[in-house]
Amino acid sequence: MDSQNPQSFTPVEGVVNPSRVPFRTVYTGAKIPAVGLGTFGSDRFSGETIAEAVKDAIAVGYRHIDCAAVYGNEHLIGQALRQVFDSGLKREDLWITSKLWNDKHDEADVIPACRQSLKNLQMDYLDLYLIHWPFPNYHAPGVDVSSRDPHAQPYIHENYMKTWRQLEKLVEMGLARHIGTSNVTIPKLRRLLDDARIKPACSEMELHPHFQQPELFQYVIDNGIVPIGYSPIGSPNRPERDRTDADTSPTEDPVIVEIARRHNVHPAVVCIKWAVQRGQVPIPFSTRRRNYLSNLQAAVTDPLTDDEMAAIARIDRNCRLIKGQVFLWKDGQTWEELWDVSGEITPP
Ligand SMILES: NC(=O)c1ccc[n+]([C@@H]2O[C@H](COP(=O)([O-])OP(=O)(O)OC[C@H]3O[C@@H](n4cnc5c(N)ncnc54)[C@H](OP(=O)(O)O)[C@@H]3O)[C@@H](O)[C@H]2O)c1
Repeated sequence: MDSQNPQSFTPVEGVVNPSRVPFRTVYTGAKIPAVGLGTFGSDRFSGETIAEAVKDAIAVGYRHIDCAAVYGNEHLIGQALRQVFDSGLKREDLWITSKLWNDKHDEADVIPACRQSLKNLQMDYLDLYLIHWPFPNYHAPGVDVSSRDPHAQPYIHENYMKTWRQLEKLVEMGLARHIGTSNVTIPKLRRLLDDARIKPACSEMELHPHFQQPELFQYVIDNGIVPIGYSPIGSPNRPERDRTDADTSPTEDPVIVEIARRHNVHPAVVCIKWAVQRGQVPIPFSTRRRNYLSNLQAAVTDPLTDDEMAAIARIDRNCRLIKGQVFLWKDGQTWEELWDVSGEITPP
């Protein structure tokens, strides 16, 4: 693990000194803090509450915030960040990610969409801009999983590359320092790596002890791409529409619960420790100081032992929680087809 300070696992109380938080180095040499704060409120928290949490999370030591246009709160997070900068923090002290939503994949829409996020966030560049989903299929916030865009399309690599070319322009224009993918598979990444002029710096994907995605994880590492892990705690408060009876919960897994008991922490904290030590960048969400502080402290205190890491490696259930059903493009499909489980990009 990269670290600015080899002593970074010494216990701390209260606030975490950001210089003690480990980081990952992306291929440009830039450093992404090894824990970020998620900002998707799962329809449960107001934008104001989330923006307040962002401001306080920075006060307790976070330097990495995961945003997205579709979360509908970038304008409020921008106001919070303005206050943070007014109180002395510099823009370059933070790593800010945003994402292009699915209704903005058309070539003409990409640069304006990024500019809108920048305007809302009150900054002149992003550290990372991701294509949120590889499907240009629109669905309104909050719709049921059975909802379908009547114009829904499959993944079409040529179209994705047209969108990607616009992201490359954003780098050339200085509006995004890095660009990356989200919710893609190995077959899609393989095509992108063949065709990209500017390669993805990071790839965001669901990663937690019950969904470890070992092949994709290894593939991105082998290709010099930093994996960012969303829903690192297993998204226990995700909306009802994203739940099925087959879903499992990593924080209730007896192995995680026992390790948490041993370390005297919440099972969520074990998930974050595992993520950081494994080498992905978890972006847990919380608006409660006690929780977001524990998640950052997880990266600088009391590491898991090799045996504990090995025990967690064995509890993978291949249980994807965020299945993406709303992006399916024709009747009779199952959500697995979105994820290229055959090893090839699912044909139209
Ligand atoms: N790229 C994508 O497509 C994508 C998809 C999904 C998510 N994301 C990003 O990933 C972020 C995180 O994912 P997520 O929100 O789905 O799930 P998550 O981070 O796995 O779970 C969040 C929930 O865990 C609870 N929690 C957090 N820390 C805790 C702690 N220390 N102890 C006990 N409970 C704790 C929180 O409860 P309390 O609210 O009670 O604190 C919160 O509701 C999102 O906010 C978003 O930024 C990206």
